[in-house]
Amino acid sequence: MKALWIFAHPEQRSLSGALRDEGLRTLRGQGHEVRESDLYAMDWKPVVDSADFGAAANGRLFVGPTSKDAYRDGELSEDIVAEHGKLDWADTVILQFPLWWYGMPAILKGWFDRVFVNGFGYGVTHPDGHTLRYGEGRLAGKRAMVIVTAGAPAVTMGPHGVNGELNDLLFPLQHGTLFYAGMSVLPPLAVYGANRVSPGEYEAAATRLRDRLHTLRTTTPLPFRFQNHGDYDENLVLREELTCGNTGLDVHYTRA
Ligand SMILES: Cc1cc2nc3c(=O)[nH]c(=O)nc-3n(C[C@H](O)[C@H](O)[C@H](O)COP(=O)(O)O)c2cc1C
Repeated sequence: MKALWIFAHPEQRSLSGALRDEGLRTLRGQGHEVRESDLYAMDWKPVVDSADFGAAANGRLFVGPTSKDAYRDGELSEDIVAEHGKLDWADTVILQFPLWWYGMPAILKGWFDRVFVNGFGYGVTHPDGHTLRYGEGRLAGKRAMVIVTAGAPAVTMGPHGVNGELNDLLFPLQHGTLFYAGMSVLPPLAVYGANRVSPGEYEAAATRLRDRLHTLRTTTPLPFRFQNHGDYDENLVLREELTCGNTGLDVHYTRA
């Protein structure tokens, strides 16, 4: 396995840092190759600006990440190109972060904004002209897994918990970004109640982490519906007979 571990936490000596170390040890101990993108340690620039696409703008005003030319013509910033190289190399991508305001830290959002450019993360087309997304795309064939720590207790992120269910909170990342770009997304690993973790609770979390890393290749991915496999009509709306009268995010899973 070739695993890319993307880590978004400002403090190495944190619960997240300890779990990351545990995870890297586990993967390397199994003989897997691992590369890292430790975003704070890299001082990753989290905002898209004209410097990213300057050469591709050809004298026009800022064209931003919507310019396909920048990727195709190899005119992206070096730090973006380096991340593309790591993603191309990897067959497995781990994304680890603390839940901050129901989502990922801004530095990780900014990693996606800058790295998943047109022609790489989106805007990828089949030779017959149709757009490859939601289960197909540049990153098809790779597996991704989110590892998240959350201050909230587990029950408050259960079916009727006040914080909402974790997979709903992670829908923009797991469905709208990772699956969108073609990746198979494994169920997330969450450590709840992460602000007060006893040594026993830490050991339990580390054991769950090791178990999930041992089974990365055999775990069944979240059953998101593919865009181009017939479930959606020509307007990309789920076919009536498949909705079972339901609405909301759950309809985009085949189990719905
Ligand atoms: C800015 C910020 C926002 C947070 N938002 C949430 C949240 O929306 N839901 C939640 O359960 N915990 C939230 N927390 C708590 C963190 O998830 C928690 O402190 C962290 O996962 C603990 O792991 P760490 O010690 O490795 O940072 C937030 C913490 C911070 C600092």
